[in-house]
Amino acid sequence: MPRAMAYRQSTQKLYVTCMGVDLMLELDARAVDPMRAITRRFQIPRGPTGVAVSDERAVAVVWGQFDEQVAVIPLGGGNTKTIDAYQGNQSIDAQTALGRDLFYRSEDARITFDGVACSSCHPDGGEDGVTWSTPEGMRQTPMLAGRLHGTAPYGWTRKQGTLEEYIADTSTRLGGTGLDPESLKALAKYAKNLPTPPKSAAVTQKLESHELFDRGRDVFFAEGCGSCHLGGPGTDAKSHKVTPDGGTSYDDEFDTPSLTRIGLTAPYFHDGRYRTMDELLRDPSSKMGSTAKLSEGDRNALKIYLESL
Ligand code: HEC
Ligand code: HEC
Repeated sequence: MPRAMAYRQSTQKLYVTCMGVDLMLELDARAVDPMRAITRRFQIPRGPTGVAVSDERAVAVVWGQFDEQVAVIPLGGGNTKTIDAYQGNQSIDAQTALGRDLFYRSEDARITFDGVACSSCHPDGGEDGVTWSTPEGMRQTPMLAGRLHGTAPYGWTRKQGTLEEYIADTSTRLGGTGLDPESLKALAKYAKNLPTPPKSAAVTQKLESHELFDRGRDVFFAEGCGSCHLGGPGTDAKSHKVTPDGGTSYDDEFDTPSLTRIGLTAPYFHDGRYRTMDELLRDPSSKMGSTAKLSEGDRNALKIYLESL
């Protein structure tokens, strides 16, 4: 999981810091495929989200967010120097820190058999935009950040009542050997408290027009959307048959998803059938209200309201 990169001009080397394995890779930038031309590996603090290189001084400086340390690595050889950013006072509690560590940890046989981490599919608690093939059919990865409070049961159809149960089941399905109760608790706590991502600047700008927002909200409730998507972003905790052709699996009932930050999580529906919100709102065979029949203005206002959630 590469997270940051810097280039050193004089030697034409790339420095890439990777989450999950907590390494900085030195790559030959002249190679056809630099990822296959690793020249050196450096052990660095955990959670490396930033790297800078000084060509003149021949050092790389890495920010390890999880260890809350800065590492100064001499590129010409010599010992790495690490500096504690908060003088030993971690900014999050131990259980959340353990959960975060597990969430990003790749190559943990308890979680998956093939080295994949939770954050490979849920990058930083979001979603990869991929629709995966699962035993029940095609399933779109949901965003976790800001969506796990009051939204049980979990899964499009799997109906697990608690996050711990859901995550235990996930690791079994991913071929992992299973996590102990302590680790499951920590992962659940971390995932549940992931902060809701900020609204995009484009959405905030559109929302300056309160009139459109109010009109969109009126359309949302007039069309009956609020009977399942409670209050807008919320859910009724029930499953419904609203998928036009019944879905791609033996099960045609799907859990009402949370619409929090729905503007950021295309494609839509359990099987990713709608590439955009427009496609979803224009589908004449929709069983969620009759949005295809709305006037252009009402549909646009509805879209703006949805993007504001
Ligand atoms: C291979 C990609 C992949 C990996 C790895 C993965 N997930 Fe998921 N996640 C998905 C998909 C796809 C779904 C929806 C599956 C379904 O409902 O049947 C999902 C659903 C979820 C949900 C349910 C969200 C909701 O709103 O109902 C949670 C919670 C979750 N994942 C947490 C995790 C955690 C924690 C890990 C690591 C232990 C993890 N996932 C690893 C792809 C992945
Ligand atoms: C009867 C309950 C119900 C009603 C009414 C309803 N929805 Fe839904 N909504 C669902 C369910 C269930 C899904 C998931 C369907 C699937 O994945 O196949 C869903 C999915 C969605 C999604 C995509 C979510 C995602 O993450 O992919 C959006 C957007 C949405 N609904 C908006 C609306 C709007 C707008 C209305 C009103 C015009 C509406 N819904 C009315 C139950 C409902």
